[in-house]
Amino acid sequence: EIKAFIFDLDGVITDTAEYHYKSWQKLADEEDLFFNREINEKLRGVSRMDSLDIILDGKELPEKIKKEWTDRKNAYYQKYLEEITKENILDDMESKLKRLKNDGFKIAVGSSSRNARKVLKQLQIYDMFDAISDGNSVESAKPAPDLFLHTAKNLGLEPEECVVLEDAESGVEAALAANMKAVGVGPESRVGKAHLVYGNVDSIDFDEILKKL
Ligand code: BG6
Ligand code: MG
Repeated sequence: EIKAFIFDLDGVITDTAEYHYKSWQKLADEEDLFFNREINEKLRGVSRMDSLDIILDGKELPEKIKKEWTDRKNAYYQKYLEEITKENILDDMESKLKRLKNDGFKIAVGSSSRNARKVLKQLQIYDMFDAISDGNSVESAKPAPDLFLHTAKNLGLEPEECVVLEDAESGVEAALAANMKAVGVGPESRVGKAHLVYGNVDSIDFDEILKKL
């Protein structure tokens, strides 16, 4: 029986991909790294340090420099976050969240981002959630199941009672590895492994999810 919905944040509740893109691009320009929108797509759902490793594409660097670069990228990103308001919530996501709560479901956030709480506060929906797990909650990032298992534990629920909504391949894999039901948001090529797929946030149908999963 489904008792909770765990939402990924970036790409499901709001779209921060453009801010991540601009921040990585600035760092890449400064450090003469090859970067573009196509590479940025691969960073969806991937942790900050894993993102740098993808950009470095096999090039090895001392940990100290990698830390300095990811810190700098994050400083640029946090500047953009100040611009985020309620307007940045995707489509009718807020009313969908309210409806789920009214219907007695628990709602939670399971995000790889260490900035997740800040983003939720900027969107003015921080207090709605029964649990929030973020990039600081566990050691192993998605596609490991740890983050979503952390969320289920905080909700006091079994993994089988949770549905995860994800826009990233690594996130869908994490949900499946956690033994949860996975709903993908985006193209089949990206989230096709999920139990149910919607092309975009607008078309997510919770009645259908409850009937089919
Ligand atoms: C994910 C984003 O939610 O968070 C990734 O999809 C991002 O693109 C990751 O790299 C980590 O974010 P942060 O805020 O901890 O750098
Ligand atoms: Mg995402």
